[in-house]
Amino acid sequence: MHEPVCVEICVGSSCHLKGSAEIVEKLQKYVADNHLEDEIILMGSFCTGRCNREGVTIIVNEKAFTGLTPGKIDEFIETEIMSKVGKEGV
Ligand code: FES
Repeated sequence: MHEPVCVEICVGSSCHLKGSAEIVEKLQKYVADNHLEDEIILMGSFCTGRCNREGVTIIVNEKAFTGLTPGKIDEFIETEIMSKVGKEGV
């Protein structure tokens, strides 16, 4: 058994202005299209206190990534989310 990957997208007001709603939609579509509902848990988070930077904050398994824009999200899914899917005890 492996744990699902936990992905928290900041939907605080600053990240919202920088496109977090669009990012959430892209992630939801990705999960649905690839039937990853049991592998990736998507959640919204309140401001994580990192909104002085560019772009949106996303936390993957408690590790925070900042500066994410909708245009960067496809690469982010590959490098930071899919790389952890199906791994033991992440
Ligand atoms: S609103 Fe997202 S980190 Fe503050």
